[in-house]
Amino acid sequence: MRMSVIGCGYLGAVHAAAMASLGHDVVGIDVDEQKVVSLASGHAPFYEPRLSELLKEGIASGRLRFSTRVEDAAGSAVHFLAVGTPQVPGGHAADLRFVDAAVEALHPHLRPGDVLAGKSTVPVGTAAGIAGRIRTTGATLAWNPEFLREGWAVHDTITPDRIVVGVAPDANGSCAADVLREVYAAPLASGSPFLVTDLATAELVKGAANAFLATKISFINAMAEIAEVAQADVTLLAEALGHDTRIGRRYLGAGIGFGGGCLPKDIRAFAARAEELGRGDAVGFLREVDAINLRRRDRAVQLVVDALGGLVFGKRIAVLGAAFKPFSDDIRDSPALDVAVRLRGLGADVVVTDPAALDNARAAHPQLGYADERDDALREADAVVVVTEWELYRRELTPRHAAGLVRGRVVIDGRNCLDAAAWRAAGWTYHGMGRR
Ligand code: UDX
Repeated sequence: MRMSVIGCGYLGAVHAAAMASLGHDVVGIDVDEQKVVSLASGHAPFYEPRLSELLKEGIASGRLRFSTRVEDAAGSAVHFLAVGTPQVPGGHAADLRFVDAAVEALHPHLRPGDVLAGKSTVPVGTAAGIAGRIRTTGATLAWNPEFLREGWAVHDTITPDRIVVGVAPDANGSCAADVLREVYAAPLASGSPFLVTDLATAELVKGAANAFLATKISFINAMAEIAEVAQADVTLLAEALGHDTRIGRRYLGAGIGFGGGCLPKDIRAFAARAEELGRGDAVGFLREVDAINLRRRDRAVQLVVDALGGLVFGKRIAVLGAAFKPFSDDIRDSPALDVAVRLRGLGADVVVTDPAALDNARAAHPQLGYADERDDALREADAVVVVTEWELYRRELTPRHAAGLVRGRVVIDGRNCLDAAAWRAAGWTYHGMGRR
């Protein structure tokens, strides 16, 4: 099927490449010329496992191309809308200016029978507005939210755990759902469930899923706060809770909390929209979820200060990690970098290292010290802070090797990802988050 993907960021670039790998004929469109040049030459402009491989295959097969010209979308049967919806400057709501601009640019190229499939994360009610705006073109709007995780984006797009399609309850709506069934024929054949809903429910599924995941993480981080004062261990608690299949162990990783380009801004936008709808009280807990999350960053900084005797001024601190999570170079709202910035603000001589996100971190925070190699960051450090759980730190770094590089054997495990007993046995003072 011929299709266009409008917006080629973390979501759109992966979607375009994945659709081509499923056999479709895809054009990816973005206003950023540099990004388009990079994608068109088969290079992912950001770190995402398997993406470059998929881009190269798609381009070589002739099924995938990229363009800055929105008119190249004309003639596609399906147009995926995959532009970003960041937080409005100075507020909590979602900034829909890129969605609005994309719909306006695409409008003259939509033809009767086309399907415009929204993938961007938007406040509930946005889709109905877009459906109204494109009605005169004869195209039909469907809402098809994306649930991909960075670092697993290719896998999540090709083998999604569910496909949700919101449509209007009329004949055009059910035709649009059929078109999307055809688009996703391969994952459907491998067993991905396909759920057809109304537009508003489809929009809500995405917001609700992210709100639930964020709540689960903040729940265990709240337990970490209690464990800290009760002399208990939150990692053992999470393990014990996780055996209850109604609860499950995933997303019960206590530490410095969640960040990235989705969860933080999505729960704020969700709460802001609920307030606009007069039901802010229904999701008032999301403010607490956000507050618990941000408190973990304070706690990590406090642990470092306490571990160094109350003062970090002039102390050399190795910060292992800058990305908001492993297998990503994304530093948007990264708790790891936030901890580094705060320690620098207290006068510490901070040296940050990360296997993928260092260029992004350097550009955003030039005031921090950086080391390309992990061991250079560790050299002469008075304390080591692990803030992104890359394998390079959690498994490949042995406490003995690290001990040979540092000045002080003090480690703060912001992700509870190290083997505390092994580090202690090697003579380190180990501090976890919510652990004895
Ligand atoms: C998330 C959702 O998982 C995805 O479905 C949605 O489409 C977009 O937002 P992503 O932002 O890629 O995906 O990251 P995710 O893997 O969910 O992690 C989010 C943050 O939570 C990271 O900072 C991670 O370190 C943190 N996290 C995750 C925890 O602190 N503890 C956990 O147990 C799990």
